[in-house]
Amino acid sequence: MVKVDLNGALQFLGAEGPDYAAAERAHQTLFGRSGAGSEFTGWIDLPKHMKETELKDVLAAARRIREQSEALLVVGIGGSYLGARAAIELLKSASHNQISDAVQIYFMGTTLSPDALYELTQQLGDRDFSVNVISKSGGTLEPALGFRAAKALLERKYGPEGAKERIYVTTDANRGILHDTAVREGYPRFTVPDDVGGRFSVLSAVGLLPMAAAGIDVEQVIDCAISELDALSLCSPENPAWQYAAVRQRLRALGKRTEILASYEPSFRFMAEWWKQLYGESEGKNGVGIFPASVEYNADLHSMGQFIQDGPRDLMETVVSFDSPLYPASVPFAEGDPDGLNYLAGRGLFDIMNIARDAVRDAHVAGGVPNIALHVPKRDEAGFAALVCFFEVACGISAYMSGVNPFDQPGVEAYKKNMFRMLKM
Ligand code: PA5
Repeated sequence: MVKVDLNGALQFLGAEGPDYAAAERAHQTLFGRSGAGSEFTGWIDLPKHMKETELKDVLAAARRIREQSEALLVVGIGGSYLGARAAIELLKSASHNQISDAVQIYFMGTTLSPDALYELTQQLGDRDFSVNVISKSGGTLEPALGFRAAKALLERKYGPEGAKERIYVTTDANRGILHDTAVREGYPRFTVPDDVGGRFSVLSAVGLLPMAAAGIDVEQVIDCAISELDALSLCSPENPAWQYAAVRQRLRALGKRTEILASYEPSFRFMAEWWKQLYGESEGKNGVGIFPASVEYNADLHSMGQFIQDGPRDLMETVVSFDSPLYPASVPFAEGDPDGLNYLAGRGLFDIMNIARDAVRDAHVAGGVPNIALHVPKRDEAGFAALVCFFEVACGISAYMSGVNPFDQPGVEAYKKNMFRMLKM
């Protein structure tokens, strides 16, 4: 379970403190499935549902991908992309493709850049590969064009019949162009459940198939997620999701309109991207919302640190830490102490990293930036499941507290309308 430490935030909240009565009402609306968008709360039962239905087929498909291919092209955007990438980078590495002997994972369909397509084909080289195209609607332009390109690459290498053996489709169960294509061509199909929106879909086949292909233990992720969601259904101020939601909403009311999600683990980078979509699309509507931003420390202390310490005081900061490293290392002793750092020789890097984190927290709090500290025991399958469930439940509660429907995204349509009109001119 994620632990929330509010010591760096409470002093900013004034006498009233977090509004747990409002958090309780939002919790009951969410878990009672009685609020706006309640038809999209299927993610609350998604891990159980997966265990009872598609999980074994996901595992079988991942095995087949591993047998037939050295690489997997994952084609999708937004909620049909970020969760899988976040999981693979967090649990494997951002350098997974360079350092792992599991199937290499390449993402496409997030850009219309021809240069990016060229680079991807160069990286792929002449390796055997398969394609997992993911789109709930089946009609999103970026992944639809990405899939065309991926299918053309497959057909060039394996011929039309050989290509069919290497395409896996994740889409709506009953409708959409991609669904119809998959049925017609006989591609193996996985489902984005009707009652789960894209940004809440990482624990469906959307995230699980690429994760399993990359060698992540998705059965463990699902088992841990089942217990996490059970624990997060607790109706109490002890619930960490209430604590996070109630504090950030109180801070919003006090004028803190930007939340910076930070971590000292570079592998967290795409978790932050996933979080930005989750909170940005769920909360940013009707003129309301907290702008979700992210930084990667220590690197960004040397670029964004000045602004955070000293710029406009409308920021809050949430820092995610893992309580133990996977691969401990210590500072080597240097003969003659040429850099004057022998006082650190033998000291664990993890320990030094945490001291840097605490020093930054104290400086930012002193500079007027409230700090919410989130602690996860380890960067492993259980930690990933804990983070996903915590952020999803807290997001639903927080959005209901601010009076918006957490599960729609009407604003995303505006650019699409313009783009299609211009493309057809
Ligand atoms: O959260 C969402 O609903 C969006 O970000 C979608 O995931 C994104 O637009 C991709 O849509 P689709 O899966 O229909 O291609």
